[in-house]
Amino acid sequence: MFFNTPYGAYHAREIPPPDDELTRVGPGTPCGEYLRRFWQPVAFARDLKDVPLRLRILGEDLVLFRDGGGRVGLLQLHCAHRGTSLEYGLVGERGIRCCYHGWVFDVDGRVLETPGEPAGSRLKDSLCQGAYPTLDFRGMIFAYMGPPDRRPGFPIYDTFDLPGYRLEPAARFTLPCNWLQVKDNSMDPVHTAFLHARSSGYQFTAAFGALPELEWRETSFGMIYVATRRVGDHVWVRVCDFMPPNVHQFTRELEEAVGEKTGSRPVIIRWAVPIDDTQTVNFEFAQIDDRWHLSPDAITRPGFGQSGDRPYAERQRRPGDYDAQSSQRPIAIHALEHLASTDKGVIMLRRIVRDGIRDVAAGRDPKGVLRGRAGVIRTLTQDTVLRIPPESDAAAERRLLRETGRNVVAGG
Ligand code: FES
Ligand SMILES: [Fe+2]
Repeated sequence: MFFNTPYGAYHAREIPPPDDELTRVGPGTPCGEYLRRFWQPVAFARDLKDVPLRLRILGEDLVLFRDGGGRVGLLQLHCAHRGTSLEYGLVGERGIRCCYHGWVFDVDGRVLETPGEPAGSRLKDSLCQGAYPTLDFRGMIFAYMGPPDRRPGFPIYDTFDLPGYRLEPAARFTLPCNWLQVKDNSMDPVHTAFLHARSSGYQFTAAFGALPELEWRETSFGMIYVATRRVGDHVWVRVCDFMPPNVHQFTRELEEAVGEKTGSRPVIIRWAVPIDDTQTVNFEFAQIDDRWHLSPDAITRPGFGQSGDRPYAERQRRPGDYDAQSSQRPIAIHALEHLASTDKGVIMLRRIVRDGIRDVAAGRDPKGVLRGRAGVIRTLTQDTVLRIPPESDAAAERRLLRETGRNVVAGG
């Protein structure tokens, strides 16, 4: 429905509710249960020091720690005895000891000690602290928060190992808004030409300012966009992947498109994990080329405009992703949107998510859940630059760009 009354704000003040099915993430909600069917990053291993780490993930309050034996535990925050927060617990050789009465919990939630109870007490054998399984994968700690009997395999993407690059846990940054609008952005490549180039100065390279020819396609593991641009005598094809439910990967924004290359993959892989309905934390892995000589700080710092740490006036003058995404309201209202031709990817992404949510509700595995020996997942993210002179008329040029993009995806 298009509202088309000039000076008509008076008639357009009603704000409908958000799409609860796609945006609510708490325990028992359809989307919350869907997201819980996948391994989700909850912290970087580097953040686990000698004290416990208090976390909020998918609307649940939790505590993360690594005990003296090197094992990682993710427990419900409040002690099973009388609720004291385990963020004040003492991390031991084995498990964590609640500060209040000294009960000790193992990483799987079993009670190891109840020191105030009489000798021979069976109390400790009769209860557990709530715990979730974890996995330390290359310095990123993942948790599985779904039903225990539905725990999936851990997906291995081909971009975890790339010749010439080193995979590093990179930036983490929080946005004060719902997870879905953070992810919508990943299949919205036209914003790279506006937000990151024309609207607020070139945040990446000048090549990003060329309006791309766009296509989106569903793949066996998720979906891709193909953004093909004319840059002088070259055609630059940028492909990015979305892997449901909340992962995407893209090439580092370095491409100048001045020389030929095929299948260049300086990727960043990013998970958008809901803290709750209106806060989202992004975790990144980055492939690092040692020839870039990046300092550790440069590896872990969020990219320009990704976080809210710049002064407001500066963010107004030179807005970035943080500003564009979080200002769509705490939870974007889909019923008020006017989706256009460049939003096909957003529509496709939401459809994949909605199908997954309904699969889970119907007792099926959603797309992206792995069972058995899945092998390495072949993804398509890349920059390919080819020397192809421009066509003389606009229609032929668009056709050329589109076909070049398709050939790159087809591996031609
Ligand atoms: S509240 Fe934790 S041991 Fe008593
Ligand atoms: Fe962006």
